[in-house]
Amino acid sequence: MTTETRLRIAMQKSGRLSDDTQALLKRCGLKLNVSDRRLLAHVTNMPIDIMRVRSSDIPGLVMDGVCDLGIVGDNTLEETALERERMGNKSSYIRTTGLNFGDCRLSIAMPEGFNYQGVKSLDGLRFATTYPQLLNRFARDKGINVEFCLLNGSVEVAPRVGLADGICDLVSTGATLEANGLVEVEEIFHSKASLIQTASPLSAPKQKILDTLLPRIQGVMKAKE
Ligand code: PRP
Ligand code: MG
Repeated sequence: MTTETRLRIAMQKSGRLSDDTQALLKRCGLKLNVSDRRLLAHVTNMPIDIMRVRSSDIPGLVMDGVCDLGIVGDNTLEETALERERMGNKSSYIRTTGLNFGDCRLSIAMPEGFNYQGVKSLDGLRFATTYPQLLNRFARDKGINVEFCLLNGSVEVAPRVGLADGICDLVSTGATLEANGLVEVEEIFHSKASLIQTASPLSAPKQKILDTLLPRIQGVMKAKE
């Protein structure tokens, strides 16, 4: 079958969402052979290909129409959409359905002992983050100025090494914050995983595959409730 008739879904190769995403696809009855090195995996019993990439690349691949669908965290989705808008790139997509995994929050955290007395205490400070656009939007909404330095991982280390005053990063259990002597002071975005699709209509064969897949996804989520 040609690429025009196989539905292409982007998913996270490794990280917070990859196990749950793989489990979801499996429960939907998709048979696929995922090995670490195989980045484009064919589903053997349905006309679907799974493209395994970095999570930060998923929204752009869907917005540009390279992939028909993507499973991604709302945090990454919103950050990418804001960044692409800023750069004048295509940022539209359809949120096909929310998914019931990948729960986390994007929060500002400060070193223990920091005298926090509301958002004004953050004015003029410097934050390490992977999400500068979401942090900027929060600062703008609150009428404060912040600086940021971009880190793509191990963000919590930044204050201790003098790179930043505080951080803005994902919190799930809170264990990483605690282990690094940080205290959450503001939640700025709540995130879950979503299934997204390209804004332009799918071809008829691809739409037919999605019409089969979507009820299965919804059924799996209902069964988990
Ligand atoms: C993520 C996130 C936080 C941590 C939150 O990092 O960036 O650091 O998990 O989880 P917790 O609240 O349950 O501790 P990850 O472990 O994926 O590593 P990275 O940031 O270095 O990529
Ligand atoms: Mg981290």
